[in-house]
Amino acid sequence: MSKIRVAVVGAGAIGGAHLRAYAALADACQIVGIADINLAAAQSKAEVFGAQPFGDYEEMFDVCRPDAVSICTPPNLHLPIATAAAERGIACLCEKPPARTVAETEALVAAFARANVPLQFAFCHRFHTPVKQAQALIAAGRLGRIIQIYNRFGFRFERAVSSWFTDPTVAGGGVLMDTLVHSIDIFRALAGEVVGVSAMVSTTLPVTVEDSASIQVVSQQGAIGSLICSWVTPVSEAEIRIWGTEGEAIIDYTQPGGLRYKLASDTTWTDMPFEEPDRFVQQAAAFVTSVREGTPPVIGGADGIAVMRVIENAYQAARSNGAAIAL
Ligand SMILES: NC(=O)c1ccc[n+]([C@@H]2O[C@H](COP(=O)([O-])OP(=O)(O)OC[C@H]3O[C@@H](n4cnc5c(N)ncnc54)[C@H](O)[C@@H]3O)[C@@H](O)[C@H]2O)c1
Repeated sequence: MSKIRVAVVGAGAIGGAHLRAYAALADACQIVGIADINLAAAQSKAEVFGAQPFGDYEEMFDVCRPDAVSICTPPNLHLPIATAAAERGIACLCEKPPARTVAETEALVAAFARANVPLQFAFCHRFHTPVKQAQALIAAGRLGRIIQIYNRFGFRFERAVSSWFTDPTVAGGGVLMDTLVHSIDIFRALAGEVVGVSAMVSTTLPVTVEDSASIQVVSQQGAIGSLICSWVTPVSEAEIRIWGTEGEAIIDYTQPGGLRYKLASDTTWTDMPFEEPDRFVQQAAAFVTSVREGTPPVIGGADGIAVMRVIENAYQAARSNGAAIAL
């Protein structure tokens, strides 16, 4: 089978992660173009990855004619860039958040449905091996009925004040939109569709968006989630805890090793070390496979819309002092 010709729009922080991931899959894909409005950024990455640099993504699409593209720009650009790709029949791996609103996300998803071209949203934690192991434990019924899930992503985000991340017209929101979007995707993958949400947010930095958020969600199956994130706490934390009627599982990204679990009948914890590549490589591999084989993406348009509905309702709940909202 011939290699997929891939391109990347946005040669910033996450663009680098996508490029490294595609480079690790050199048997299945070839990086042909890198576009950034900052041409120097595209050029320096292009030198490293052996691709052609562009200052304009539409020019890159028309000159390079890639089969697939990663969109790694700020969220206000996801919809226009994705639409330009879909109109040219280019498959897309679009960074999170899918867009700034549900309406934009729906328009983005509709463009790919019209073009009948694969669209995958880059909820990379789904490809973290311990998260996949947790999904498998749950699917096999080992943890029993899932009762509660806790997830916290907390760190001190040095770029927050001085970057587009705290400009709501570009980012669509603050940490709830940017970081907690991952938590909602993880919760849906582990516990099922979200049917209710309440939320509280706070702002500590001199910015107009929230820089800390705590939300409560409940799934169709009755599992409760406490999802917490902050850009202003200095000790980096990334943790998921899952409690079921038959056991408990923990994923602590900051510790070596993988998933740990203890079942009702166990006297000790079981560790599940893993050797698979990191989540960005696994995410890119799933996308490239979907493009090469024409199989549905692991995380498709409906997932992006569902996550954005939770986000929008969480903002509405926060504006109503945390009042719970049924989705
Ligand atoms: N999955 C993750 O864990 C993760 C982590 C970080 C960021 N992200 C997401 O990735 C996206 C980018 O974030 P980042 O941290 O890489 O931001 P960044 O600011 O580091 O990089 C964004 C790049 O996009 C470029 N750009 C801006 N306008 C453009 C245009 N019109 N055409 C081409 N390029 C343009 C900028 O010049 C910059 O180089 C955001 O949606 C963000 O939420 C995801």
